[in-house]
Amino acid sequence: MTEKHLVLVGLMGAGKTTVGKRCAARLGREFIDTDDVVIALAGGASVHDIFDTGGESHFRELERQAVADVCSSPAPLVIGCGGGTVIDPENRRRLRSDGIIVWLQAPVDVLAARVGDGQSRPLLAGDPVGALSRLSSLRESAYEASADAKVDTTDRTVDDVADAVLDVVAAVSS
Ligand code: S3P
Repeated sequence: MTEKHLVLVGLMGAGKTTVGKRCAARLGREFIDTDDVVIALAGGASVHDIFDTGGESHFRELERQAVADVCSSPAPLVIGCGGGTVIDPENRRRLRSDGIIVWLQAPVDVLAARVGDGQSRPLLAGDPVGALSRLSSLRESAYEASADAKVDTTDRTVDDVADAVLDVVAAVSS
């Protein structure tokens, strides 16, 4: 592979999809969200249905397959990773080897405001703020260990964050 994928990681509500699509447009690349690949692998079942029928462990198995699939694309992509993707050591290894990884950050209250009632996200059910706080503490070290750089998204426009992300790509690629 000549050019690495651009990989966005971070908690739910960090802006991976919105910023990822903007970066993809600016780089002339395709944007792929690992959740969409998981859904396709599950025959179109929603993330909620996958959690309901097979539990989180089944979702994580499909997610591992999704990461392997997108990473093997010969064309460099912009990849938006579901928030829990980098918890898995094999995913971390694969994404680090094939991608430049940027960790999109924001404080928990900002993330919570963005995800609202968190209805489409099973791990946030009932108490989005509490869940995001717990996940933030649990995952901080995995994000830190995976990322080439972190970008704060608080009070910034999508274009501003995309600029910062593309600066990282330029710096790491040079
Ligand atoms: C999850 C994040 C979600 C989705 C699933 C689990 C997580 O993706 O993969 O609900 O474990 O943080 P987004 O981060 O794109 O919302």
